[in-house]
Amino acid sequence: MLIRKPSDIKPSEITSEAIFLQRRKLLSGAVAGGLLAAGGSMGRAADNAPSAPTLKFKDNVQYSVTEKPNTFEEITHYNNFYEFGTDKTDPAENAGAFKPKPWSVTIAGEAEKTGTFTFEDIIKSHPLEERIYRFRCVEAWSMVIPWVGFPLGDLLKRFGPTSKAKYVEFTTLLDPKQMPGQRSDTLPWPYVEGLRIDEAMHPLAFMVVGLYGRDLPNVDGAPLRTMAPWKYGFKNGKSIVKIRFTATQPRNTWNILAANEYGFYGNVNPEVDHPRWSQATERRIGGSFFGARQKTLMFNGYADQVASLYQGMDLRRDF
Ligand code: MTE
Repeated sequence: MLIRKPSDIKPSEITSEAIFLQRRKLLSGAVAGGLLAAGGSMGRAADNAPSAPTLKFKDNVQYSVTEKPNTFEEITHYNNFYEFGTDKTDPAENAGAFKPKPWSVTIAGEAEKTGTFTFEDIIKSHPLEERIYRFRCVEAWSMVIPWVGFPLGDLLKRFGPTSKAKYVEFTTLLDPKQMPGQRSDTLPWPYVEGLRIDEAMHPLAFMVVGLYGRDLPNVDGAPLRTMAPWKYGFKNGKSIVKIRFTATQPRNTWNILAANEYGFYGNVNPEVDHPRWSQATERRIGGSFFGARQKTLMFNGYADQVASLYQGMDLRRDF
């Protein structure tokens, strides 16, 4: 990410904990009562939180942190989505007209079943769950986000990856008409990211289709994006149109742009600094005007679950 001074969230935009807790109570009650219908989305409520959940999902407590999530307003107004501009506020300003439906995803490469599938084909047969994940950007800011989705590995397995599939590559939509940022060459388009197959199959790796119980907002990568919470945000491509199983390590956008600054792995690691700044601490968005600074945790706090994936690797070299 380019170095720029982040414009901070105004304190007036922060939903109080009481309102948040009240909403969550309503939400789980509605799910338990089977009252929610799938699909659709509704306008933003006056308190800057979504007015009502529209997706049917279960809370996944096992994979959720207990820290207070950021508000819907924060999560949708402080974004990196260079397809809509390079400033944190650009996606909120420029992504409103983007049409995430109809949508299709092409499955390609080392798999038994390849082809192009509608978004509905992709998500059907996957029960949705909510996971409250920590989110750490490589730029040393962080949030806590209640995503709705399903395990990425469950989706990938449906296409029967062959024994040659050692990596998975994710490609974002290329559509300069809808994505004004793609009309200039800030990044080599389309945005591409990748995971090793065992990372992609890890139970924490998530395919996200919703936020705060409603369809994923455009600014966060509608209609679907990946989320590996132990990695820096840049590893999680948005608005994915292609998933390709590969035998060799795919290139990833930020690595193509600056290989000495952004590696393939992008694992959160407070001991390995970015060449231009420290990764030891992070600024948690919200709470106070500048956001409280806190220590960054190894693998973003998910070390117990994921450290074994990297046993024997030199994390300074494979950053
Ligand atoms: N995906 C695409 N297609 N384009 C992007 O610019 N930015 C990445 C990642 N995925 C990016 C992307 C970076 S740097 C971050 S930090 C996260 O998206 C931000 O996700 P969020 O805006 O939902 O918080």
